[in-house]
Order: sequence, then structure tokens, then C-alpha cells
Amino acid sequence: MRIDQLLASSYSRKEMKQALAKGQILVNGQAACKLSQNVDTNLQMVTIQGQPAPASKHHYWLLHKPRGVVTANRDAHHATVFDSLASCDWNPDLYALGRLDRDTSGLLLLTDNGPLGYQLLHPDAHVSKTYQVVVNGPLHSDLPALFATGIIFENGYQCRPSQLTILESSAKQSRALIELAEGKFHQVKKMFLAVGVKVISLSRVQFGPFKLNQTLPYGAYRGLTAQEKQALIQILEESR
Ligand code: URA
Repeated sequence: MRIDQLLASSYSRKEMKQALAKGQILVNGQAACKLSQNVDTNLQMVTIQGQPAPASKHHYWLLHKPRGVVTANRDAHHATVFDSLASCDWNPDLYALGRLDRDTSGLLLLTDNGPLGYQLLHPDAHVSKTYQVVVNGPLHSDLPALFATGIIFENGYQCRPSQLTILESSAKQSRALIELAEGKFHQVKKMFLAVGVKVISLSRVQFGPFKLNQTLPYGAYRGLTAQEKQALIQILEESR
């Protein structure tokens, strides 16, 4: 695990950089040169400002959210995304990285790493998300250019540029992929309404570097690999 990943839950990026510059991050007594240096706290003694670095205790789950469940920690009327977790994998600090509507399915990351989520969901992080969309009408060939310039909502809000790939278009029903780096409330549904069609099915198939493997059944989940956790840190670095 990288030093910045190890320290992310207890120190801000600025604090880590300052400690590094002052030679206050030690690995087996030697000052670390880079925050990207890999360390293993089982094998090495890592200290920051004289204190042992905290052992990482965070959890990360990649869930295939089914339709019908809400992205909330509790709900009076509906099952929540956390009901999919086995009781041994649940803890009260878990929360979802972003929100999918009740009728949206797809990839959702759950974690108890608070600072990570805060940074990743910040509008400046611009994490790209891809959705598979079915709409109730035609998607004309001029639409990708319109999405690329930024769809404008009725209230005048101009969306960031997004990438629309039309997979199939007919008068009654069309399919497309849309990739965007924004996450406003009902964003995708509103974008398609702005061009005159209604979303009838929505599924998130990618979030940053994470792709939904269609063999993961609805409601099933898996832990992130060490490499995938590293990819999360990478997103944060690129957004700085
Ligand atoms: N956009 C929407 O409209 N709904 C979602 O659930 C996600 C993105």
C-alpha cells in the first residue's frame, strides 16, 4: 500500500506533503522521499511525526445495485443498498460513493473511508461515470454533438460536455451509452428529457476506472482488490 493511501484516513493531503517535506515520514527510520512509495505495515515500521501510521481498517465494496432499492442508510418503506450486504460485511460507517435513483441499477461503491468519499464526490474531482440508457423515442444522429457541447436544462443550467454513443435508435425505443463527469440530481434523466425523450431504463456500467462485470448478479457485491484501492487514490491524485 502507498504511504498516501495508508495515511489518507487520518491526514489531509497538505499535512502529508508538509510532513514529507520536513522528513517527518519515516519508513524503518529512513525519511520517505515520495508519498507514492509502497509500504507494508506488517513488515515495516512507518511513522509520521513520531507516531506510528494507522493500520488501514477501511472497507470497500463494489455492489451491483438492483432496481427498487434506495441509496440511503435507512428507509421507512424500501430496502436499501446496505440490505444487500451480509451482516459480517456491514458496519454503521459505510456509505455509498454517489447516489443512484431507486429505479436505477448498476455499479455502486460502498466504503467507510469518510475522507476518501468526500474528496471523490467533490465536483472538482470530475470522476467519469458511464450509464447504459433506454429511452422511449428516437435518438437522432445530431445528438452526440449537442451532448458534447453541453445540454441545457429548462432552468438555463448548462451541463458539462458529455459523450453520447447511440447504440440503437427507433421511433419507439432507443439505446445509448452516456459518459459524463457530473452528478446532479436525476442528471441523466433530465439530460434526455431536455432533448425530448424519457429514460425508461438506466444502469451505471462504469465509475472512474471501475467497470460493472455483468456476471456479478443484481444485489451481489465484492471487495475491491488492492490494485483497485490504489486506483481510487490515483483518481484523487489526478483530480488535484
Ligand atoms: N442520473 C439519473 O438521472 N439517475 C441516476 O440514478 C443516476 C444518474
